[in-house]
Amino acid sequence: MTLLVTGGAGFIGSNFVLDWLRQSDEKIINLDALTYAGNLENLASLQGDARHVFVQGDVCDRALIDKLLAEHRPRAIVHFAAESHVDRSISGPGAFMRTNIEGTYTLLEAARAYWNPLPEADKAAFRFHHVSTDEVYGSLAKDDPAFAETKTYEPNSPYSASKAASDHLVRAWHHTYGLPVLTTNCSNNYGPYHFPEKLIPLMIVNALAGKALPVYGDGQQIRDWLYVTDHASAIRAVLAGGKPGEVYNVGGWNEKANIDIVKTVCALLDELRPDPAGPYARLITYVTDRPGHDRRYAIDARKIERELGWRPAETFDTGIRKTVQWYLDHPDWVQHVQSGSYRDWVSKQYGA
Ligand code: NAD
Ligand code: DAU
Repeated sequence: MTLLVTGGAGFIGSNFVLDWLRQSDEKIINLDALTYAGNLENLASLQGDARHVFVQGDVCDRALIDKLLAEHRPRAIVHFAAESHVDRSISGPGAFMRTNIEGTYTLLEAARAYWNPLPEADKAAFRFHHVSTDEVYGSLAKDDPAFAETKTYEPNSPYSASKAASDHLVRAWHHTYGLPVLTTNCSNNYGPYHFPEKLIPLMIVNALAGKALPVYGDGQQIRDWLYVTDHASAIRAVLAGGKPGEVYNVGGWNEKANIDIVKTVCALLDELRPDPAGPYARLITYVTDRPGHDRRYAIDARKIERELGWRPAETFDTGIRKTVQWYLDHPDWVQHVQSGSYRDWVSKQYGA
């Protein structure tokens, strides 16, 4: 049996591939365009492993996807590939519309053409798993209930609007064509191989370099945080037992204000790699807020627990400690991702 994974060289996709192959011999075909966010170094431990076949390519390339489906006959597609950074979607939305909307459409159409003529048993067993985000639901006030699967869609950024559009396409391909789709909407992930344009890894690498720790606005925005291997286990659970056409919200029951996340990272670094110049929190710098910044996300993850028995294994305390330690243990990985294009992004986003 075989899975086709898209975006498996990115942060969550590569953690999913590594986690999958730690527990299963089922082969993975990994289709990834290797944009700035894709990194084969994440998958270095799989070199020479016949269970992992990497293909560099674009999810908008229908001919390539048709070829991969015909050649490898996967029993499921797990679709991670996306442009994923909200700030980049604000300064350049075009790539988000293309990959997140057109790419998902292309993959759905290729999947439908492949799935339609399958023998009945294979057809019934096939799954198209769409990996999506809690951001499609919009922003919550302090006392609003957490996002349930029935929450109306109110995306506020070009990124979340493009993911919302992709979710709607996935839903429609089930409703109209009967394609057996599954959608998971997950909260903020963190952990190894997280590209340092996102909050937690940016704070770790900047602190270690003695640079400012840029906190947007008042730092009181709230996110729910989930350790990345818990996201991988949730996807495994949904793929194995989720009902086609259903949506499952995935979260860590871990709401935290951004400033508290940054202070926690600083405190862990003070303990694990003390800076003779003083506590890392001295580097915290409040900067101009993100335009349209969503105030709060929170996930009601009771459905996936009730129906599929999934709960996160990590607490925030255990996950954030492992994460900070991972960055301390992998200075080469950090150095390699901080290429010219990374430096260009940082100076464009944060100025000199
Ligand atoms: P990422 O940006 O780290 O990785 C995205 C991967 O997709 C990269 O390897 C990139 O090369 C690849 N890719 C981009 N455009 C492509 C294209 N046109 N064709 C093929 N490959 C392409 O993203 P991530 O944080 O790992 O997120 C993965 C998925 O999970 C996304 O769909 C995202 O919306 C969703 N998600 C992310 C989070 C989070 O906290 N990071 C939370 C919930 C959901
Ligand atoms: O909620 C799930 C989403 O989480 C995913 O769908 C996205 O792909 C993923 O990037 C993430 O989006 P966020 O915008 O929440 O993540 P980010 O790490 O960019 O920011 C987290 C919070 O920290 C957010 O409120 C903005 C703030 N922030 C971020 C950066 C990069 C700062 O205060 N300073 C920063 O420099």
